[in-house]
Amino acid sequence: MHNVVISGTGLYTPANSISNDELVESFNAYVQQFNADNAAAIASGEVEALTESSSAFIERASGIKSRFVVDKDGILDPKRMTPRIAERSNEQWGILCEMAIAAAEQALARAGKTAADIDGVIVACSNLQRAYPAVAIEVQAALGIQGFGYDMNVACSSATFGIQAASNSVQLGQARAVLMVNPEVCTGHLNFRDRDSHFIFGDACTAVIIERADLATSKHQFDIVGTKLLTQFSNNIRNNFGFLNRAAEEGIGARDKLFVQEGRKVFKEVCPMVAELIAVHLQEHQLNVSDVKRFWLHQANLNMNLLIARKLLGRDAEPHEAPVILDSYANTSSAGSVIALHKHQDDLPSGALGVLSSFGAGYSIGSVILRKH
Ligand SMILES: CC(C)(COP(=O)(O)OP(=O)(O)OC[C@H]1O[C@@H](n2cnc3c(N)ncnc32)[C@H](O)[C@@H]1OP(=O)(O)O)[C@@H](O)C(=O)NCCC(=O)NCCS
Repeated sequence: MHNVVISGTGLYTPANSISNDELVESFNAYVQQFNADNAAAIASGEVEALTESSSAFIERASGIKSRFVVDKDGILDPKRMTPRIAERSNEQWGILCEMAIAAAEQALARAGKTAADIDGVIVACSNLQRAYPAVAIEVQAALGIQGFGYDMNVACSSATFGIQAASNSVQLGQARAVLMVNPEVCTGHLNFRDRDSHFIFGDACTAVIIERADLATSKHQFDIVGTKLLTQFSNNIRNNFGFLNRAAEEGIGARDKLFVQEGRKVFKEVCPMVAELIAVHLQEHQLNVSDVKRFWLHQANLNMNLLIARKLLGRDAEPHEAPVILDSYANTSSAGSVIALHKHQDDLPSGALGVLSSFGAGYSIGSVILRKH
């Protein structure tokens, strides 16, 4: 069995950003138009009037101030409220592949590796663009990587599950190094007409190189001390979009064919599960919570992260102990905790312990204990 390290991380951030005020302005224009168009039905009680959104609520309830998106105009157009991503020919790289290439090139550079050093590609994300061929195989071709590639989806936990899968392959000698990427176009599955959730998501892509320790030469290495995953079935975060929709015409276009959630329930049920999984995982490695210098937590909601850190530490976390990126990125699904890792690692001294943790639909929870090399 080989020892395994993370030897490089990369991040692609789309050029456009939408502030809460911009998003709320578009949403409220939609609400006003809807209420005007349905004035008679609303007055007779047949149709319920829609209520406006508010920036102050969004920031207080979630900690989100803005989000990066692959297309701003389509989302903010009150008549459309969906990103506009033009169809591409099969001869062009798809948008997920393109995002993955940008993040992967950065991760390879930080790891000091080239495509020739990589034996496998895993694309792990919430919303794959198509059924097949696997986006990972497209990424492989685009970067000129030999070996194998496959896609996997464990919603917001896709990256930690992907790191475990990659780490297992490297440990067993099936690959010298694996590129694991998380291209997330979350705005594609977000219902921008839903007041409860229209502010939640943004787009981004992260990349991680998982490599045999004895081959790694990077200055940015973390030993993978251990990984621990947990899933427990829940309908509280769900998206019923899929290829069987066409076999049930009555459901086409219904609300549940985009992201839907019971946010309150998710908050209440998931926070204790995450704190417990991390605590047990550390115990299994004879480590104390107080030994951990940094928690790179999934970035869905600031209040969730504050609560999880408080449950673990028995006190409020210092900002540097659980860095926040969701204020400017919103929830980028599987990419979120890796963005936190990517942006907040270089100041850690050699030997420092950190925990990368994801949580989301499934429910699915992941914990990866890392030690700075
Ligand atoms: C979604 C979430 C931000 C909502 O925050 P919350 O404090 O639970 O808010 P609620 O949905 O209970 O709504 C509280 C009030 O704000 C109102 N509200 C909801 N959306 C609003 C909006 N956009 N603007 C203004 N007010 C809004 C509600 O109508 C409700 O009003 P009421 O008290 O008069 O009934 C929060 O529950 C959350 O983040 N949960 C976890 C979700 C998560 O992590 N999901 C993972 C996705 S992968």
